[in-house]
Amino acid sequence: MNDDRIGSGESVLIDTAAALRSLRDVYDGEAIDELDHALQSAGRAMDDGADDELVLAAALHDIARSPALGLPADCAHDREARDWLTPRFGARVGWLAGAHVAAKRYLVATESGYAATLSAQSVTTLEVQGGAAVDAAFTGHPYWPDAVRLRRYDDAAKVPGTQTPTVDDVIAVARRVRQTVIATR
Ligand SMILES: [Fe+2]
Repeated sequence: MNDDRIGSGESVLIDTAAALRSLRDVYDGEAIDELDHALQSAGRAMDDGADDELVLAAALHDIARSPALGLPADCAHDREARDWLTPRFGARVGWLAGAHVAAKRYLVATESGYAATLSAQSVTTLEVQGGAAVDAAFTGHPYWPDAVRLRRYDDAAKVPGTQTPTVDDVIAVARRVRQTVIATR
């Protein structure tokens, strides 16, 4: 994973920490900002015993909203997250983050009562995202069950005042993921 476009080793972790921290005071219609949402998502994943890649994908699933990435507000933030994460942290982290909208659409379509648990903002964006749907391009993928887990962490990570891991805790996970991904290439 020595890609000159993204830098190597430590610079990827520094850039990731900066991207996360730039989510402070970025709001997407929820009661907490995007940094707290990211950290709560990571915390939910850790509490569930998720592996490092799933924890990292949970933490960074909305990273495309980071001002540090410079993307337009109306971008497809799921696909942008996938494209940003994959070269840095491997295909599984990128895929899982990139599936979080598809997982919401799937759960609305297949799980009775799920839609009623969504935040008002998430219901609003569902329509823009294409509404309830089972997309076989996602649901047949071997990573799909973990994408559904990630979605549940995402939905539960909107509670003001929740104790969370820190950005440094997430970066420690990111460091381990990079070591693993690099070692297996
Ligand atoms: Fe989210």
